[in-house]
Amino acid sequence: VTTPLHVTFAAGDCGAWRITGVSTIVGPTLPPATALCVLEGPDPAAPPNCAWSLRGVISNTRYTQRGEVDALTSRQEGLRRTQATHAALIPMRKTDAWWALAQDERRAIFEEQSHHIGIGLEYLPAVARRLHHSRELGEPFDFLTWFEFAPEHEAAFDAMLVRLRASPEWAYVDREIDIRLLRDPER
Ligand code: HEM
Repeated sequence: VTTPLHVTFAAGDCGAWRITGVSTIVGPTLPPATALCVLEGPDPAAPPNCAWSLRGVISNTRYTQRGEVDALTSRQEGLRRTQATHAALIPMRKTDAWWALAQDERRAIFEEQSHHIGIGLEYLPAVARRLHHSRELGEPFDFLTWFEFAPEHEAAFDAMLVRLRASPEWAYVDREIDIRLLRDPER
């Protein structure tokens, strides 16, 4: 499996994922939709009746140190596992204050103060993840975060969100929408 560079999340009335819930955590919400498709490639054809679409790219890591890379690599599993029928798409934007910080200051907030990787590691391999960067594309969100898990791990996923959202890093989040999905069994 090769990693795509460009990924578009297009919501409307058709797609391989059924939208089961939308929680607007902070900032404006998105128009309603019942299904989502994940399109890989730089210039995908827009699906019919598209309610919204968000684009991101898969990029290099910014903050992860060698020991963390190794810990992640040894525990994480890939997307599209058969049992991982549930997913979450969480688009996020961070404040101007975050982007005005220096790299070392952002790293300190992200890990030394918030333990983002430390917390996240506790939920591997149950949760598989992929981070997409959108800020450089001039998109409404800075990041499109994607997670896949089996239904019996959704409660643990929710518990992880409570911990992360209580951390200092999240004080810099000014738009966040939590979209839950179920893989359409017919697709
Ligand atoms: C499943 C457990 C998780 C793990 C192992 C994990 C791990 C990571 C790692 C290693 C990075 C840094 C990538 C880099 O070096 O650039 C990162 C970034 C990020 N993660 Fe997580 N994460 C997890 C869960 C989450 C959740 C639940 C959310 C959203 C609610 C989230 C949102 C983000 C965002 C937005 C970034 C980019 C931060 C930035 O560049 O400012 N992560 N994550």
